[in-house]
Amino acid sequence: MTIRSGRHFLQIPGPTNVPDRVLRAIDAATIDHRGPEFAQLAKEVLAGLKRVFRTSQPVIIYPASGTGAWEAALVNTLSPGDRVLMFETGWFAALWKEMADRLGLDVQMVPGDWRHGVDPAAVEEKLRADAQKKIRAVCVVHNETSTGVTSRIAEIRAAIDRAAHPALFLVDTISSLASMDYRHDEWKVDVTVAGSQKGLMLPPGLSFNAISAKAREASRTAGLKRAYWDWAPMLQANEAGFFPYTPATNMLYGLREALRMLEDEGLENVFRRHARHAEATRRAVRAWGLEVNCADEREHSASLTAVVLPPGHDADRVRQVALDKFDLSLGTGLGKLKGRVFRIGHLGSFNDLMLCGTLCGVEMSLRLAGVPSKPGGVDAALEHLQRSPT
Ligand SMILES: Cc1ncc(COP(=O)(O)O)c(C=O)c1O
Repeated sequence: MTIRSGRHFLQIPGPTNVPDRVLRAIDAATIDHRGPEFAQLAKEVLAGLKRVFRTSQPVIIYPASGTGAWEAALVNTLSPGDRVLMFETGWFAALWKEMADRLGLDVQMVPGDWRHGVDPAAVEEKLRADAQKKIRAVCVVHNETSTGVTSRIAEIRAAIDRAAHPALFLVDTISSLASMDYRHDEWKVDVTVAGSQKGLMLPPGLSFNAISAKAREASRTAGLKRAYWDWAPMLQANEAGFFPYTPATNMLYGLREALRMLEDEGLENVFRRHARHAEATRRAVRAWGLEVNCADEREHSASLTAVVLPPGHDADRVRQVALDKFDLSLGTGLGKLKGRVFRIGHLGSFNDLMLCGTLCGVEMSLRLAGVPSKPGGVDAALEHLQRSPT
């Protein structure tokens, strides 16, 4: 085994670096999950989460990865054979679709090129064409972690409204929540799906559903089978600060601390920080003479950047060099982007010098891996960081 000194750079787009404050908070004695101290903890985190989702409606916490919260969103609101409208923005949208197929839903998938987000005009067109209002839900991945493309949720909401369609609106914010602007209530989202391991700065293991009154109403008649994921017993137990089963107590200690950190910094400042690091990263990529995968200026992700390699060069080779030489983990290309892109995560607990270290590692790795690239990417990023103070 190689002994490495210094800190590992975990710059995949999640799981992200867990701050020491959160790690210390998790490292505490587990308490009785049916006692008064726990109820206080649960009430505090449930209230804090509402502020992050920007909702006054309930948020449910599952001891599960994001995939569990995807399933919960579908099985609580839909019935076998229900038609759902989905958009192939990338790997995660495709996986959510596959799950919907397996649950027995009738998925209408709008194809995509993995370089663009969901086109609001296409949403409007599909919904207007649905004269019989058969589509029960529109499902969108806000930030496609596989491509670095962010769909414009407010515009998609406006498109649904223009079509005057009653479909539920289900949004995956697994790699956007607490990294970029998101408004569950204002954008009239019915179920927002999120996970702990990205903008929320926690280890993997918790996931969330924020639910609207309309979604709750739909859950009363939704016919898909559900037991563990059922919202009803959870909502009832949560009222008193409890869970219908043993909760992930120590993760909730971590969540409480992470929510305090986000509030200390201020959500607007958190979003500005992410946008600034993303812009600096894109400037570095362009200065290297490489291409950013996102093809629309309005849709650049603030939480990650997918970098396209010139034909004939393997992105996983760059990742291998970065790991071997610099102890830097970069995200791999997923699905049809395997080998063609690597992804730089710049989300969660992250600052200017962490970004500089990451970009230095990428610049050196590109050269060592023999990828034709120009020097000066790091300088371009530094220039941006200096000119746009926090
Ligand atoms: C946008 C998005 N959706 C869903 C998932 C699946 O979440 P998990 O791997 O936590 O189950 C991920 C994971 O990275 C994701 O980035």
